[in-house]
Amino acid sequence: MCKFPDNYKGHIMHQEPDETEIDSLMLESFDQLADDLSEKGYGTIDHFLSGDEFTNIREVASNHKEDGNFKKAGIGTSQDFQINKQIRGDYIRWIDPEKAAIATKVYVQRMRELMQYINRTCYLSLKDVEMHYTIYPVGTVYKRHLDQFRHDDHRRLSVICYLNDAWLPEHGGQLRMYLPRENQPEETVDIVPTGGKLACFRSDLIEHEVLPATRERYSLTGWMLDQYQELTFL
Ligand code: OGA
Ligand code: MN
Repeated sequence: MCKFPDNYKGHIMHQEPDETEIDSLMLESFDQLADDLSEKGYGTIDHFLSGDEFTNIREVASNHKEDGNFKKAGIGTSQDFQINKQIRGDYIRWIDPEKAAIATKVYVQRMRELMQYINRTCYLSLKDVEMHYTIYPVGTVYKRHLDQFRHDDHRRLSVICYLNDAWLPEHGGQLRMYLPRENQPEETVDIVPTGGKLACFRSDLIEHEVLPATRERYSLTGWMLDQYQELTFL
């Protein structure tokens, strides 16, 4: 059952996309993700970025950090820094796709290809992506929340790509998703933030949190939007 959009009750009809830019293995991953999204509301791709690709992007993020270009992420509801920090401890830097480093543009481009693929196979009309670099210092968290928190929010799909070398489950920092189930208790799924992995889920439906880690945790956090993004936040 395709859960996109909410009133769509039919089965996903898979068209054959005439894709030329991406290789066939990546295309298979896109296809699996589209299936998982429609069936479960979330999915992952283990090697969305290669080792070199995510290492280069982490380098870009790390340089921005050294230059003081990250800022404390807010939660929108609290002016109190201490309360805010207990709920959400990450630092972010928004990405302007046009001005981004080459390494980051590789990611932006692949995300757009994924968005177009999902549009074609799930009959959606996602228009744009917005994204930022994210760093969680050791021990920080993002408590359980929904990404689509305002009724005028245009976020449809949340997409997070991890940039961490040799991350093991014992390092913590899992993305924990809470999957609603009809007439049953919710199900919990943990995603280990291994470098190159992409996690994608419905922004309107899936509550989630970030668990504390014993290492600094790097990622790219983004959203596929149902309208064009105005870069007013930069
Ligand atoms: C977020 C978020 C999850 C993650 O930034 O809204 O929930 O795994 N991130 O980084
Ligand atoms: Mn979130």
